[in-house]
Amino acid sequence: MISNTEGTFFLTGKDFVNAGKASSRLKKVLENLGLPPGIIRRASIAAFEAEMNTSIYAVAGIMHYYITPETIRVEIKDMGPGIEDIALALTEGYSTAPDYIREMGFGSGMGLPNIKKNTDSLTITSAVGEGTTLDFVINLTGTSEGAEHDTERNC
Ligand SMILES: Nc1ncnc2c1ncn2[C@@H]1O[C@H](COP(=O)(O)OP(=O)(O)OP(=O)(O)O)[C@@H](O)[C@H]1O
Ligand SMILES: [Mg+2]
Repeated sequence: MISNTEGTFFLTGKDFVNAGKASSRLKKVLENLGLPPGIIRRASIAAFEAEMNTSIYAVAGIMHYYITPETIRVEIKDMGPGIEDIALALTEGYSTAPDYIREMGFGSGMGLPNIKKNTDSLTITSAVGEGTTLDFVINLTGTSEGAEHDTERNC
């Protein structure tokens, strides 16, 4: 039985040395809880993509995770420009990433679609000029954890 676990990581915008560390620390937490590899993989991909978006687009953010025997829930709240059209942002291939971000291997417009594919529920709320909050849930009960999901980057 998994005991209730929660924690917080602080995210700094444009800090590409540390970008990715919060999601890899979350991955360690999930591994230490002994969760199935397929679940860990999905949660790590989703957390990594959300963390990278905070890093690329926002000034700062917070990742908070809550794990219960039933679900992994992760909330990533940033202070950034916000997303004007969330449906458009969720479209595969849509990206406003500048050239220097593309040169680092990002900006394919696959991050948000990838989060959606790898989670059981995703809620995005955003206010232009204020910031964006992503809230995703992965179910730990009644799912086939082995189902393959899409592209993985180095998370
Ligand atoms: N936290 C955020 N704040 C502001 N805009 C965002 C945020 N996250 C995503 N967006 C907007 O949504 C677009 C699509 O995001 P998505 O993560 O799918 O692709 P990307 O970051 O451009 O490229 P990739 O994730 O493939 O490296 C971004 O280009 C950006 O315009
Ligand atoms: Mg992205």
